Amino acid sequence: MPTRYLVRRLRTSDLDRILEVEHLSFGKDAYDRNLFAEFAHKCGDLFLVVEQGRKVCGYMVTCIRGQRALGRAELASVAVDPTSRGKGAASALMESTLRRLRLRGIGRLGLMVKVTNHEARAFYEKYGFRKVRTIRGYYEDGRDGWLMARTEPRP
Ligand SMILES: CC(C)(COP(=O)(O)OP(=O)(O)OC[C@H]1O[C@@H](n2cnc3c(N)ncnc32)[C@H](O)[C@@H]1OP(=O)(O)O)[C@@H](O)C(=O)NCCC(=O)NCCS
Repeated sequence: MPTRYLVRRLRTSDLDRILEVEHLSFGKDAYDRNLFAEFAHKCGDLFLVVEQGRKVCGYMVTCIRGQRALGRAELASVAVDPTSRGKGAASALMESTLRRLRLRGIGRLGLMVKVTNHEARAFYEKYGFRKVRTIRGYYEDGRDGWLMARTEPRP
């Protein structure tokens, strides 16, 4: 039977759990509470969490870019609790995010991913993201990043 998920907007009371998922996912490279508070402030209803059986098991945060980049958004981060991976939680988050962007007429979504992060690359490619260019030494450990983007097909 497929796992049932509820995707909803972040609440302040979710922050501790988000930080837990973040640490389990990224270790010493985890974003801190201040950055998540800033995302909550700036990204509004594009900061989403996914619940399974009333427990938050992941999050996705997307920010709309400024006036000069009209019609564009950036996927700032996504993570799923390691014990909940491979069962569609990130897919539920992505589908909700893409639907919300479509409703706002935002057709282009960009992101950065570490070249060595094969799971994440496979996930993004499944949703139509393609590599735009390589950014050498983008990450703190010196690894390269891929700038990836997807454009919503015209109806
Ligand atoms: C990337 C991540 C968010 C995927 O979450 P998830 O809930 O396991 O993903 P889903 O179950 O929705 O999988 C969707 C698709 O992603 C791809 N995928 C996910 N995990 C994968 C893996 N271990 N190996 C290969 N492909 C994988 C597959 O294409 C999959 O589709 P399929 O089930 O039809 O094969 C999760 O692995 C994670 O939290 N990683 C650590 C944090 C991270 O790296 N975030 C991205 C930073 S740029």
